[in-house]
Amino acid sequence: LQDKKYQMRNKIAAGNWKMNLTFAEAKTLNQSILDHQIPQDVKVILGSPFPYLAQLCELSKNNDKVFVAAQDCSAHGKGAYTGETAAQMLQSIGVDYVILGHSERRQYHKESDTLILEKIHQAQSQDLGVIYCCGEALEIREAGNHVAHVKSQLSESILKLDAAAISKIVIAYEPVWAIGTGKTASPEQAQEMHHEIRNTVAAQYGDEVANGISILYGGSVKPANAKEIFGQADVDGGLVGGASLKSEDFGEIIQSF
Ligand code: PGA
Repeated sequence: LQDKKYQMRNKIAAGNWKMNLTFAEAKTLNQSILDHQIPQDVKVILGSPFPYLAQLCELSKNNDKVFVAAQDCSAHGKGAYTGETAAQMLQSIGVDYVILGHSERRQYHKESDTLILEKIHQAQSQDLGVIYCCGEALEIREAGNHVAHVKSQLSESILKLDAAAISKIVIAYEPVWAIGTGKTASPEQAQEMHHEIRNTVAAQYGDEVANGISILYGGSVKPANAKEIFGQADVDGGLVGGASLKSEDFGEIIQSF
């Protein structure tokens, strides 16, 4: 399992449950995904609330296609940080990945790319896979500054990593205006940005590194649009919020590659 986490350029369907589900509901949803016929070359990641992680890791440990993610971790190693969760704690219960820099954390918790980079260092020091989220707000898109904005997020964070470290990152491009709004970026808009992101990585680290990185699209992915979005050349899968809470919908999304 450890090695599979860092396989190059995977097809990934990642669910971000956010602050939803009771424990009973989370276990039922997890079980239905474990029972699902996941295509050979697809990897599924479930982003669960903290209280359920240990149990979900236990339930998923014999399934080599289903991985468990936390939705955040602390920028500190350990100590007097009431309410925070250290990367080492996640590692010690068998968590595989951590989602970092989600726009809801940036917006509601004022997370900067500098802070997110510290969290990435913590996560990687504990051998956790990182799903790094970036993306622009509506005003930025409307002003035509979306590409520059995302590039600046990257340069303040993951572009400060060395080649070995960035190679282990999964990038999720999530335009803020498409999250939870029912509005999806068009396949062309997603492809344009994913291509820009990959080129930006290539310019600094070379083609081999850039072509090995999985770049996910997030923002109102659902069964009706997943196939078209995942079909774009630089889109390697999705980070799915709302539709990942319904096992049938998420099951269909898993089949959309
Ligand atoms: P959504 O959320 O699919 O509900 O738009 C995506 C996300 O925030 O990761």
